[in-house]
Amino acid sequence: MRQAPALSSLIPIRHPLIQAPMAGAQGSALALAVCEAGGLGSLPAAMLSPEALQAELQVLHAQARGPWNVNFFCHTPPGPDAMAETRWREALRPFYAEAGIDPDTVPAGAGRLPFSHALADMVEPFAPPVVSFHFGLPAPDLLARVKGWGSVVLSSATTVQEALWLQAHGADAVIAQGLEAGGHRGMFLTADLSTQLGSFALLPQIAQAVDVPVVAAGGIASADGVRAAMALGAAGVQVGTAYLCCPEASTSALHRQALMSEAARHTALTTLFSGRPARGIVNRLMETLGPLHPAAPAFPLATAALAPLRSHFEALGRTDCTPLWSGQNTSGCKLVPAAELTAELALGFA
Ligand SMILES: Cc1cc2nc3c(=O)[nH]c(=O)nc-3n(C[C@H](O)[C@H](O)[C@H](O)COP(=O)(O)O)c2cc1C
Repeated sequence: MRQAPALSSLIPIRHPLIQAPMAGAQGSALALAVCEAGGLGSLPAAMLSPEALQAELQVLHAQARGPWNVNFFCHTPPGPDAMAETRWREALRPFYAEAGIDPDTVPAGAGRLPFSHALADMVEPFAPPVVSFHFGLPAPDLLARVKGWGSVVLSSATTVQEALWLQAHGADAVIAQGLEAGGHRGMFLTADLSTQLGSFALLPQIAQAVDVPVVAAGGIASADGVRAAMALGAAGVQVGTAYLCCPEASTSALHRQALMSEAARHTALTTLFSGRPARGIVNRLMETLGPLHPAAPAFPLATAALAPLRSHFEALGRTDCTPLWSGQNTSGCKLVPAAELTAELALGFA
């Protein structure tokens, strides 16, 4: 196997360990704790309002010791599609009826916005040391701006072809996202789920194919997992799910409960919550409709119609319509400070 370039040659961190950006489940508090412990803390921007993003960037810029990462989605937003929206609401009708909600009163909307020149205007003064993207890379002029202010650029690949594409289009390192990973699949060259590989198959093949450092993601939850990834050619690891129960994460109480319960043994890829495949713990909506229902509209339009259903059931203490994002390996989910988890995982680099 060829020698992977060191991640520290790109990003001066003590441990080549990236805390995965996790939109909706954490903010600067978790990122700062991981940076403090010698890893690379990440701020997910996909679900933040511009005001909230600005505030979080100020915190990280002022307080992070060493490098930090801000993460954006870079999908192409779909146009409004009234027919698709109607079909989706029809599929959800039994849930609306049970909750006593009139679907015609539920507003449609995007929910997650892609990286843009307007967002770049906001980010530029902070010149984040690292910017990572999900769903490919932004358009060349936009990417050139990010590189121009000096950020190291990372993005996720779910196939060897995507890794080669990212390298050819300017990514400084590639995150190999195995099928075990929690949250959205970063897939962007294909929508075919049969192309998606588990970490043990994906990582060595990407490490062999590209010259940039490869970061392993998906199912890593212990020092032994880190060791295995490094043995398979990784230059570092990105860990998400294991950080979800740390006190610095903003994971809801219901989500934490699910992660720590037997229910977490059964996760699936589902399009129901956003329109793109993402891994979460199986809940009633996924069981009833099937996790990959054809009526789920294009990303990210599925979310809006579900919002009042999610709130209705959550008010009753139930997760029937809540996305419970989780990877397949929840064995690392513990109520321990992020610094402690980071130190434990970092033993795998020794
Ligand atoms: C709750 C949750 C939210 C996520 N949100 C994002 C995100 O906003 N941006 C992103 O690039 N990746 C996101 N991911 C995927 C992670 O970057 C990473 O691929 C994954 O967590 C690694 O697998 P693991 O969860 O098994 O550690 C998310 C993952 C989880 C669990």
